[in-house]
Amino acid sequence: MCGIIGFAGKSTRLSTLLDSLRKLEYRGSDSAGVAYINSSNQLISAKTVGTTEKLMDLLPDKADAGVTAAIGHSRWATHGEPSKKNAHPHLDCSRNLAVVHNGIIENFEDLRDRLLKRSHVFLSSTDSEVIAHLIEESYNGDLIDAVKRASGELEGAYAIAAVHKDHPGVVVVARKGSPLVIAHDGSRGLASSDVTPIISYTREVIYLEDGDIACLNAEGISILTTSGEPVDRPVSHIDWDEQAAEKSGYDHFMLKEIFEQPQALRNTIAGRIRDSKIVLAELSSIEQHIQKAESVKIVACGTSYHAGLVFKRFLEENAGVSAEIDVASEFRYRKNVCDANSVIVAISQSGETADTLEFLRKNRKNCSASIAVTNTVGSTITREVDTSLFLNAGPEIGVAATKTYTAQLLLLYMLAIRIAQTRGLSEEKAKDHARTLSGIPAIVEKALVSADRETRIIAELFRNTRDFLFIGRGYSYPTALEGALKLKEISYVNASAVQAGELKHGHIALLDESFPVFAVAPSDFTKVKMASNIMEVKSRCAPVVLLTDDNASFEDQLSVIKAPFVSEWLYPIIAAPYLQLFAYHMAVLRELDPDRPRNLAKSVTVE
Ligand code: M6R
Repeated sequence: MCGIIGFAGKSTRLSTLLDSLRKLEYRGSDSAGVAYINSSNQLISAKTVGTTEKLMDLLPDKADAGVTAAIGHSRWATHGEPSKKNAHPHLDCSRNLAVVHNGIIENFEDLRDRLLKRSHVFLSSTDSEVIAHLIEESYNGDLIDAVKRASGELEGAYAIAAVHKDHPGVVVVARKGSPLVIAHDGSRGLASSDVTPIISYTREVIYLEDGDIACLNAEGISILTTSGEPVDRPVSHIDWDEQAAEKSGYDHFMLKEIFEQPQALRNTIAGRIRDSKIVLAELSSIEQHIQKAESVKIVACGTSYHAGLVFKRFLEENAGVSAEIDVASEFRYRKNVCDANSVIVAISQSGETADTLEFLRKNRKNCSASIAVTNTVGSTITREVDTSLFLNAGPEIGVAATKTYTAQLLLLYMLAIRIAQTRGLSEEKAKDHARTLSGIPAIVEKALVSADRETRIIAELFRNTRDFLFIGRGYSYPTALEGALKLKEISYVNASAVQAGELKHGHIALLDESFPVFAVAPSDFTKVKMASNIMEVKSRCAPVVLLTDDNASFEDQLSVIKAPFVSEWLYPIIAAPYLQLFAYHMAVLRELDPDRPRNLAKSVTVE
């Protein structure tokens, strides 16, 4: 998730702009850049790989004085690896204007082809660079009009800020789908992806709406709608302090990231479902191998492994191909696991997990193709595989994987459907699935509202428990595993998970009135069997928490949470936020910091 910033007015200081840009780095930062108009009305730009820290050294002496307008960008790579050429700002061919962008331009390939035919020269592999060239094409002396016309050609999500050397003291911004907040502190117009950098200057801000274009300068700000009509947007007063603002008002990054899931899922889908068809262009180079594959080998650790378990089941059901999964720390030591007819799918949000990388290094050459599913462009895993699929979920700061898990599930469903299509899944069925997947972000969004309240009530009941056993069947067994992992890693409750059918084979001996069971039991084909497992648990006097769905008719003397009803294969993605929130509330009620669980690291780069 990138961050953009813009300051307009003679009191602009580059050092202040860079300070403010630094405050956006928590959103993720692999490279950074600025562009500004100096006192001689020249456009100067500088960019670097790494954090904002390095930028000041790159700027000419005395750059701080005489700046009239400046824009900055903190990048988290989605299209193109982290590099100086891919860092923002992007300039047009005349080098008169510079643009920073947050979001994903879905039709950038079409736009770039068109612009190339008209002799524009591209210097980066980003989707964003098309915006600078589009504004250049539309520019006839009126920067606002040029930004407006260029925005009209963009599909996808954007928050843009632009400066032009012929418009000293002016920053023009536009937004659709990506957040953008603007303000005026009396002498400067300010724009930013979120309020964090702004609140040290003013607490009165305006959240732009989709389609809005705004012009900022020392005198004030003016806003136009898509159709060019002037419009007033309400001014909001911010009463958070800076630290809280970094978390957008949430108490913890984990909670913020749980609530970011609808947007993260939308970003994962963006550009990949067109006319009800799933498009994963990244697979084109290995399509033949996928078609001929006799088996798929899935490798991952922790939460990514749980996503892999769901993928295996869905893939086998839809693609008729055998799929094998193991945790990387075991898989890498097994012999003869891959052959020329197998395809590897390696799942790792960080792309840096040592065991997963070692599995790839050992086995990649023995299989016909390898695919990484990761959130991190430029990570090591992308260099160890034939092709990579990126989650585009934005950075995850909390150690517990939350939004990256649901984004993994969504992308893996898409991958499974594409694999199935090469092996005979009908177009109608594939379209059906694609339409269903398109609706998932909205279902998660709706569910989150009540999920937060309901899971907190249950957490209050169980805040002092020492143990929890999670049970599930079918698609809900990986969900049970994930629920137990979340709970143990941030609340230190002794939580484990077992297939519900295994209860009687030993685990039930643990149960008594002080040992609760968390049953993941949607109204799918497992319902009847789960109901009898729950009876077995209750007859040992163990308290039961039941996570089910709106269609279920389980007895109501249990602690019941009902998620929206969805097809059984999709239940893992709908159930996950409930389990994340339950673990979160348990941790907070136990006075633990969910963002920094003891003994754990976000990336496990050692074996
Ligand atoms: O970066 P990866 O997806 O490869 O990480 C694998 C596990 O370390 C990770 O999923 C871990 O289990 C989570 N942080 C748990 O919330």
